[in-house]
Amino acid sequence: MLVLGIESSCDETSAAVVNEKKEILAHVLFSQIKEHEKYGGVVPEVAARAHLEKMDTVIEETLRKANVGLEDLSGIAGVAGPGLIGGVIIGLMTAKSLAFASSKPFIAVNHLEAHALMPRFTNEVEFPFLLLLTSGGHCQLLIVSDVGKYEYLGGTLDDSVGEAFDKTAKLLGLGYPGGPVIESAAEKGTAGKFKFTAPLIHQNDCNFSFSGLKTQVRTAVDKGLVKTEADKNDLAAEFQETVIKALKNKTGKAISVFKGKTSGKHLVLSGGVAANKAVRKAMETCAAENGLTFAAPPISLCTDNGVMIAWAGLERLRKGMTDDFRVKARPRWPLGS
Ligand code: KG4
Ligand code: ZN
Repeated sequence: MLVLGIESSCDETSAAVVNEKKEILAHVLFSQIKEHEKYGGVVPEVAARAHLEKMDTVIEETLRKANVGLEDLSGIAGVAGPGLIGGVIIGLMTAKSLAFASSKPFIAVNHLEAHALMPRFTNEVEFPFLLLLTSGGHCQLLIVSDVGKYEYLGGTLDDSVGEAFDKTAKLLGLGYPGGPVIESAAEKGTAGKFKFTAPLIHQNDCNFSFSGLKTQVRTAVDKGLVKTEADKNDLAAEFQETVIKALKNKTGKAISVFKGKTSGKHLVLSGGVAANKAVRKAMETCAAENGLTFAAPPISLCTDNGVMIAWAGLERLRKGMTDDFRVKARPRWPLGS
C-alpha cells in the first residue's frame, strides 16, 4: 500500500509518500517561515499564495524522489482541516484533483488526527492510547481508541500551548516561530528568578489555560524587569518550566481517567510543541511514573509535515475509510466530531 499525503493547513507546503511498512519513500517540505518572519506570525493570505506557488513542484519532486507515478499509488490523502482555510483549500483541491484524474481513492485527512496517529508510524503504539496533542492551534488530552475514535478529556480554554510559546517569544523580541527560540533561551537561563504560576492546576479537570501565563510574561516585560539577554533567558526558562508544570499536572489527571476507562499502555505526545526536548523529557517521566510507555515522533516530524497526512491517509484507507469529492475544507474540525 502506497499513499501520497499533502499538507498545507498552516505555513508548510509538504508532500510525502509512505507505505504500510512504515517507510518514507519521499518527503518534501517547503517552509514559509522566511515569508512570515517579518510579520511576527503567519499571515493567512501570504500563506495561501505561497502554497499555491509551491504545491505543484513539491508534489512533482515528492513523486520523482519516491520513484513512483500516480498510477502506482493506492490512495491520495489531502489535509481537509482544521487550519487556515486558504491553505487547506489548496491542499484539499490538489488531492481531490489528483485522485480524480488518476481514478485513485481519495482520503480527506483531519490535521489533528494526522498528529494523533503519527506516533503509530514512528513507534509501536497500539490502540487505545492517551494523547497529549500540543500544537500551534491546539492543546488537548484525548483517549484514542481507534482510527476516527476519540474521547475528549480536556483542552485549553483559551490560547494553545504553541501560541503561548510564540507570543512569549514575540514579547521578548526573539522572533518567529517562538517554540525553538524559547527552548534555546530556556537552556541558557535559570528558572525561578522570575516567578510564574501555572494556571488551573488546582482544578480537578483536564483543562488548560495559557492566556494568563502570557499576561504574566507581559507584566514582567512592562515592569522593565527584562533588560538583558540573561533576563530573557531566565524568563524563558521560567515560562517553559511553568508550561511543563501545567502539562504534567493535567496529563497526570488524564492518566487516572484513562486507566479507569481502558487497559491502554501508552502515553503519546504529538504536535509541534512535542519537538521541545524539556517537554518530551517531562512527559516521558510522567508516563514512567504512571506505568505507561511513552511515545512521540522524532523531533523532525513533530511540526507539520506531509508524512503525517500520508500515514493518516494510509491508516484510514486500510480500514476502507475513503471520502467522496464533496468533502469540504474546514477551518474548524474538532476530533471526535
Ligand atoms: O503542529 P505545528 O507545526 O502546527 C500546528 O498544527 O499548529 O505546531 C507549531 C507550533 C508553533 O506554535 C511552534 O512555536 C511550536 O509548535 N513549536 C515548539 C517547538 N517547535 C515548534 N514549541 C516549543 N518548543 C519547540 N522546540
Ligand atoms: Zn500541526
